Amino acid sequence: AERHPAAGRHVVITAGPTREPLDPVRYLSNHSSGKMGYALAEAAAALGARVTLISGPVTLATPAGVERLDVESAAEMHYAAQRLAGECDLFIGCAAVADYRAEQVAEHKIKKTDDDDGLTLRLVKNPDIIAAVATRADRPYVVGFAAETRDVERYARDKLTRKKLDMVVANDVSRAGLGFGADDNAALLLWRQGNREARRELPPQSKRDLARAILETALEAQAAPQNA
Ligand code: C5P
Repeated sequence: AERHPAAGRHVVITAGPTREPLDPVRYLSNHSSGKMGYALAEAAAALGARVTLISGPVTLATPAGVERLDVESAAEMHYAAQRLAGECDLFIGCAAVADYRAEQVAEHKIKKTDDDDGLTLRLVKNPDIIAAVATRADRPYVVGFAAETRDVERYARDKLTRKKLDMVVANDVSRAGLGFGADDNAALLLWRQGNREARRELPPQSKRDLARAILETALEAQAAPQNA
């Protein structure tokens, strides 16, 4: 059999939500299921890559042949990503990282008070995990995701430039039955090819098929001569 371009490559994928603690019993999070990231991990392993999956809390089984690192907060995910970024060939940021965390995590359970109907939480920005990987001198090929509800292409292109990504996978999450939590997804892929921008539209399909198409495109783009 012919050797697939993925064979022997080390692929690192972030997946799922992050959980930002408020106190010992509470946290801030989001509805990410992790399905897209896990589908990417499964597809990459099936193509012969060595795969490390940095996973937030999800209820999915670890795909066969995939090494999984469980993390909870964005800070933990960032630490794991930085540790692996210099030794991988391809980094795919599929996690729905919480934008903010509590400025201070309360040591004890935050109590409800009788004298105030409100509670104010002070939040601070989390590190941008994928942007930090993309600015390293020893950067791998970096693929990011953009989940948008409008102006999908414009926001995706902006993300590509601002975060210095090599490729962005954009989804319109307002489309019924696609995206967050769903089994199917569609995507618009944008990437730089030398001085030009390349694009590929992937129609609605299972996250499994979509994952395979995203990987194939990323591996081809990574291998393409950059000044062609
Ligand atoms: O800015 P936005 O969150 O829409 O960007 C999405 C992309 O950036 C995804 O690839 C996501 O995994 C990544 N990201 C990250 N760290 C953050 C926020 C987003 O790696 N703090």
